[in-house]
Amino acid sequence: MLLATTLLIAIVVVLAKYNHQRQPAWKYVTLNSLISWLSTVSKGCILFCISEGLGQQKWVWLSQKKRPLSNLRVFDSASRGIYGSAELIWHLRARHFAVLGSLALILALAFDPFTQNLIQYYSHLDIDSSQTAMLSNCSFYDSLGLPSHSVNFVEPEMKANVYNALFNSDSSQPWSTPQFTCSSGNCTWDPVATLAMSATCGNITDKLISFCAANTNDTAFQGAEGATNCTYYLPAKSKTSVNGNLTVSFLNNSIMGIPVALGLSKALLPSNGYISPVQIIAPDSLLTNGLYSSRLSTTDKWQAFECTLEPIVRSFRATVTRGTYHEETLGIWRNGSFAQTTRAGHYYTLQPPWGPEMGMEHNTTFWIDAMPTAAIDNFISSLFAGHAKIDASGYVFKPSPTSQYATMDVLEAIARSNITGCAVKSAEKLRCAVENIASAMSKSFRDTAASTQVGANTTGKAMASQTHVRIYWQWMALPVVIWGLGVVTLVGTIWKSCRAGLPVWKNDVLPLLSIYENDRDEDGKGDEIAYGQKVRLGEINGRIRLSE
Ligand SMILES: *[C@@H]1O[C@H](CO)[C@@H](O)[C@H](O)[C@H]1NC(C)=O
Ligand SMILES: *[C@@H]1O[C@H](CO)[C@@H](O)[C@H](O)[C@H]1NC(C)=O
Ligand SMILES: *[C@@H]1O[C@H](CO)[C@@H](O)[C@H](O)[C@H]1NC(C)=O
Ligand SMILES: *[C@@H]1O[C@H](CO)[C@@H](O)[C@H](O)[C@H]1NC(C)=O
Ligand SMILES: *[C@@H]1O[C@H](CO)[C@@H](O)[C@H](O)[C@H]1NC(C)=O
Ligand SMILES: *[C@@H]1O[C@H](CO)[C@@H](O)[C@H](O)[C@H]1NC(C)=O
Ligand SMILES: *[C@@H]1O[C@H](CO)[C@@H](O)[C@H](O)[C@H]1NC(C)=O
Ligand SMILES: *[C@@H]1O[C@H](CO)[C@@H](O)[C@H](O)[C@H]1NC(C)=O
Ligand SMILES: *[C@@H]1O[C@H](CO)[C@@H](O)[C@H](O)[C@H]1NC(C)=O
Ligand SMILES: *[C@@H]1O[C@H](CO)[C@@H](O)[C@H](O)[C@H]1NC(C)=O
Ligand SMILES: *[C@@H]1O[C@H](CO)[C@@H](O)[C@H](O)[C@H]1NC(C)=O
Repeated sequence: MLLATTLLIAIVVVLAKYNHQRQPAWKYVTLNSLISWLSTVSKGCILFCISEGLGQQKWVWLSQKKRPLSNLRVFDSASRGIYGSAELIWHLRARHFAVLGSLALILALAFDPFTQNLIQYYSHLDIDSSQTAMLSNCSFYDSLGLPSHSVNFVEPEMKANVYNALFNSDSSQPWSTPQFTCSSGNCTWDPVATLAMSATCGNITDKLISFCAANTNDTAFQGAEGATNCTYYLPAKSKTSVNGNLTVSFLNNSIMGIPVALGLSKALLPSNGYISPVQIIAPDSLLTNGLYSSRLSTTDKWQAFECTLEPIVRSFRATVTRGTYHEETLGIWRNGSFAQTTRAGHYYTLQPPWGPEMGMEHNTTFWIDAMPTAAIDNFISSLFAGHAKIDASGYVFKPSPTSQYATMDVLEAIARSNITGCAVKSAEKLRCAVENIASAMSKSFRDTAASTQVGANTTGKAMASQTHVRIYWQWMALPVVIWGLGVVTLVGTIWKSCRAGLPVWKNDVLPLLSIYENDRDEDGKGDEIAYGQKVRLGEINGRIRLSE
């Protein structure tokens, strides 16, 4: 019984230790098997006790008064199995102490299923140190493309990303997702602060000026005769301004539509002046007007927009769930300024008043070098400068003469194509385009940093599904009840047996040979023991005997 108790306690201790923990990775044995071993041995011990107890109780039973000899058999078979136990309970009408032991023998049938049910497994996301989680952050940007004396060019990665943002229709927007490594597919990172680009756009439709005049000359179009020549423009700073008026003109109500002008007259909205803004003048329903069905009239709505880019510091918390990258912004710091002159010009600095809680060390300065700033300025004002229209020859995308880079394609994208993540079909498309560019540049900052700057990789936590163990303690009830019945049977039997002064015969059969006190010779019927015969165990001549 002591062994059984110890084993049961061992089971409880082991289970309590692994409850809600990861499944132990033992070399030769599993948790289930260990519990099964412990419970099997424990059950064996308890059953042994009970069986021996029942065996002893049959002597107690017989010592109390005269009982039918057949009761010996009932007790004996009870100590051997379930059927016998049930018979004993029936026989004793559930009123005798021995019933407890029999009950335990029957209940013990469910001992193993109950202990098997104790342990349930479930999967739980856990930090897996064997996996990698890497994310790039960037505190400065100083990369340049082709070296040149007069103009600075942006680096090819940034170009590629920006073009991707304008021309790629992939709705997952790969140009905005920075490089990361998350080998387990589920990762989390502490907050990270990084240099980023942000777009600021404004509606400058109310600054738009229009006038119409009689068309004097252009008769190249069907229906152009007699149509009025209307013009929309944004005023330049002065007549002699480097950037002239941004102008579009079209023949009212003729088959000649979708005129779009991109460029800059003068900055009309307040900005931090990081780079020159870009502007657009375009009629609404840019895309719905096809090549030969575009009749624009002065009744069509025209809008103008202005957009610019500015560097920011963004603090965010990144997660990867099932391989999908997601960022939750914690804070944005916009207050930057051009620092003192360096050899190459001015560099732009930002110093957020943040600390490690936002993913940066105190007093970190984020900066963009002067030449990349000039390159980005040139890049953006080159890309968004020109006119698009339809004339007799079809679509005309005409970059401004000073444009570099892929301006013609950008004009086409704005006038004709869908900008990813944007459903508008008016001049507001410029906002979508510049916002996408801001994401693409932010990614470029970080990707460049990851490949060139030391310490630009933030290590995160890779999570993986692990099998955990949960213990359902209620299934422990039956083993405990059986154990309790075993203890009661044991103690009760000892007590009763001592009180009756009986020897410890238990299930021994040898006593049966010697304790029957009938004198065969005297009554001559000793050969057969009648089942109805009643006997009693008692002390006769100083020895324990069965007698009639
Ligand atoms: C821009 O402003 C004009 C008037 O100023 C307004 O009619 C138009 O709806 C605005 N466009 C957007 C996209 O808000
Ligand atoms: C109109 O075209 C004629 C020649 O076809 C030309 O002589 C005249 O200068 C043009 N007028 C304007 C206002 O462009
Ligand atoms: C309309 O007028 C503008 C000047 O206001 C001129 O530049 C343009 O060529 C004219 N368009 C046509 C089709 O006559
Ligand atoms: C811009 O338009 C104004 C009229 O609003 C005109 O006076 C001025 O000459 C134009 N500037 C240029 C550079 O064409
Ligand atoms: C433009 O054409 C429409 C109809 O075709 C006409 O109602 C409108 O008055 C014209 N606008 C001007 C400024 O001539
Ligand atoms: C922004 O920065 C300037 C100097 O760089 C400083 O004078 C100003 O107080 C700052 N503004 C805020 C809101 O911190
Ligand atoms: C940050 O800089 C300010 C002054 O520039 C200084 O007072 C402060 O102690 C610095 N903080 C840390 C954490 O270095
Ligand atoms: C733009 O998207 C619309 C649906 O949103 C689609 O019907 C149309 O064909 C697309 N246009 C181009 C040029 O891809
Ligand atoms: C940063 O991590 C990327 C993988 O995410 C790796 O390709 C790159 O070499 C690492 N950069 C540095 C400087 O450790
Ligand atoms: C990246 O962030 C970590 C802290 O998250 C910082 O220690 C490290 O200096 C940063 N690296 C760069 C290049 O900004
Ligand atoms: C990632 O997490 C999701 C739940 O957030 C889980 O269903 C999935 O199995 C996990 N993937 C891996 C590879 O652990």
